[in-house]
Amino acid sequence: MHSNKILSADSQQFIDLEEKYGAHNYHPLPVVLNRGEGVFVWDVEGNRYYDFLSGYSAVNQGHCHPKIIAALINQAQKLTLTSRAFHNSLLGEYEKYITGYFGYDKVLPMNTGVEGGETAIKLARRWGYKVKGIADNQAKIIFAEGNFWGRTLAAISSSTDPGSYEKFGPFMPGFEIIPYNDLAALETALQDKNVAAFMFEPIQGEAGVVVPDDGYLTGIRNLCTKYNVLMIADEIQTGLARTGKMLACDHEDVRPDILILGKALSGGVMPISAVLADNEIMLTIQPGEHGSTYGGNPLACAVATAALKVLKEEQLAENAERMGELLRTELRKLNSPFIELVRGKGLLNAIVIKHANTEAAWDLCLILKENGLLAKPTHGDKIRFAPPLAITAEQIMESVEIISKSLAALA
Ligand SMILES: Cc1ncc(COP(=O)(O)O)c(C=O)c1O
Repeated sequence: MHSNKILSADSQQFIDLEEKYGAHNYHPLPVVLNRGEGVFVWDVEGNRYYDFLSGYSAVNQGHCHPKIIAALINQAQKLTLTSRAFHNSLLGEYEKYITGYFGYDKVLPMNTGVEGGETAIKLARRWGYKVKGIADNQAKIIFAEGNFWGRTLAAISSSTDPGSYEKFGPFMPGFEIIPYNDLAALETALQDKNVAAFMFEPIQGEAGVVVPDDGYLTGIRNLCTKYNVLMIADEIQTGLARTGKMLACDHEDVRPDILILGKALSGGVMPISAVLADNEIMLTIQPGEHGSTYGGNPLACAVATAALKVLKEEQLAENAERMGELLRTELRKLNSPFIELVRGKGLLNAIVIKHANTEAAWDLCLILKENGLLAKPTHGDKIRFAPPLAITAEQIMESVEIISKSLAALA
């Protein structure tokens, strides 16, 4: 089935079009997809692949989930956008549903993940001035090294990855970086009275699925409470059942003051993000002070409600927990000389490649593709394995078989 070592003229023509007319801001694997269903995607030549990226964890519910697509189509035929200049008949119901689902007073709906991050930081600064009493324009937000929360100027201002920030300055002031998984450094930073918030990922996804020590999340919660600083959890990649719990913070039963969700909030159908917080924080922003044309549109409300329901109905967190265990166990059993490390939680996993060739992770992804599994390297030597969450044990075993065969070919 996957004998096409050289791309057919068919695939190449799509790639050439992108190369000629699109900005060169991505470096995709040479595969051209035109269909998806559940854990699988198909290319234009009819080859089927396991999708082990899941749109960077946006497709937790699986490709083109029938219930989410039905909600999309049904609502698209009635009303798609009102803007927030007018009310719409779905927004309030959606807000009630998602705040009940996660246990917060209020939600602020946005579109992309990075807008969710921007919104959380604006809320934290507002809260800092209006509630904590920080002097005007002095608020600081603390971030962890290796963080990734998107590509806006604010997001890259907190980045420690030169590929993200170089030659894009000047940068946003008021951001400070501390090491990840370091509670002593956090405590030192939080002693500054001008600190409004600490924003972090419970597992650093783009950094290569960096899992902190047990107790880190609890430690953050305790320190933020002690120093009257807001705990902002960026669960855009880790949330919504990906790591084996509804939220990664649930692994330590910790409740952030501000919760940011995105990606799988639409099951991969459209950009939908949300920021959740209680009244003391959320009501510091008044009409006209923040928003977005598309945020809270009726189509998004219908899609997000369906996407959230599917997570619970299909017990995807529980399945992610079980299948993640199986995947990591089976990967470790391979005992491959090229796998330095297998790490992750639930179905957010990565392997770290050990090989004399610095391009080995990319090469392995090309071989995996030939063998019917799509994954993408991050930071050179790491490959994320994050399939849609409904994957079965049988499919995990078949995937590991593909990975094993591909590792052998890497020799
Ligand atoms: C943890 C985290 N936050 C924020 C973002 C940004 O989301 P978006 O690409 O939808 O703006 C990402 C994207 O990968 C992410 O992984």
